[in-house]
Amino acid sequence: MIVEQNVPLQAHNSFGIVAKARALVRVRSQDDVQQLLADPEHGPAPKFVLGGGSNIVITGDVKPVVLKVEVLGRRLVDESPRAFIVEAGAGENWHDFVTWTLEQGFDGLENLALIPGTVGASPVQNVGAYGVELQDRFESLDAIDLVTGKTFTLDAAQCAFGYRDSVFKHVAAKEGDFGLAGRAMILRVRFRLPRPWKPVLGYADIERKMQETGIQEPSARQVYEWVCAVRAAKLPDPRVIGNAGSFFKNPTVSPDQCQDIIAREPNIVHYPMADGTVKLAAGWLIDACGWKGKSVGNAGVYERQALVLVNRGGATGGEVVTLARAIQTSVYERFGIRLEPEPVVV
Ligand code: EPU
Repeated sequence: MIVEQNVPLQAHNSFGIVAKARALVRVRSQDDVQQLLADPEHGPAPKFVLGGGSNIVITGDVKPVVLKVEVLGRRLVDESPRAFIVEAGAGENWHDFVTWTLEQGFDGLENLALIPGTVGASPVQNVGAYGVELQDRFESLDAIDLVTGKTFTLDAAQCAFGYRDSVFKHVAAKEGDFGLAGRAMILRVRFRLPRPWKPVLGYADIERKMQETGIQEPSARQVYEWVCAVRAAKLPDPRVIGNAGSFFKNPTVSPDQCQDIIAREPNIVHYPMADGTVKLAAGWLIDACGWKGKSVGNAGVYERQALVLVNRGGATGGEVVTLARAIQTSVYERFGIRLEPEPVVV
């Protein structure tokens, strides 16, 4: 185990914010974590788990010891007439893993193509796109307790998945409370890819592709290519323009609240949910408040999708947070809705 000092983090966060980790350890296996925990200086120190850095806003140098997840490997674990069970190390790049599964003939993750970040980060926020959420394809994961060094396995129920949410996003106030944020590091994730494969096509952008091409029964590879094309057209590539994907969650309101807003704003984009609530498109709300293309310092609102905040070059985490707060205030003043940020502010 090597502890690196004063490590630049710009390349390790998709916003491209300039900051340093005072101490950083690359974790390639659970042994690396166990060695760190046994270290008299760094073992007891607070820790921060960094995956692909695609869902964080760094607002200064990171003081906790950064655990950079670099656990690799991908394999077929089990195969039955009902499903393929496929496993990947937490440090694998998510999109490369999705591409590999399709190349191997393990279809089912195609709607989740091109999501930035790592395999280990995918259950943390229960990534989702074009009608599929990670929880729909999840089997189990292995993690390591950052206090005891013991490894354990969680199934979907134990991960407590919600919309862009899981047990890994909650901090337990005391021993035994709900929440594993800062307490556990994900090592490996297993996915259940049901057989026979069935495409998930309901999403408007995908239906548009079907109409444009006339293809009514697309293969998984075809859906993958459509998803990549839609994302590339709408969302900035973090390697070119720093960003963390959607900055806010899409809020839900009661049907009464929704009717109230529709009476004032007939064009509002809304989707009725199975539980009776109504989901609103946060991108539409922000766009309606005139934020598209606007900036605070070097942090801005992406021109083609108002839900995405971008680094126009040299933005600080503080500028991103200030912009996010200004957006929250104007959406609240106009619609009475509080937008909840998706990324974690560090
Ligand atoms: N809209 C606008 N103006 C905008 C942006 C959006 O009017 O500036 C409208 C669109 O026209 C559309 C609606 O809002 O009618 C929804 O937009 P879109 O289809 O782009 O999806 P979204 O709800 O904004 C969500 C996810 C994305 C995911 C897409 C596709 C959240 C917070 N975001 O975005 O996830 O890729 O659906 O499934 O749920 C991410 O989490 O980082 C992410 C990119």
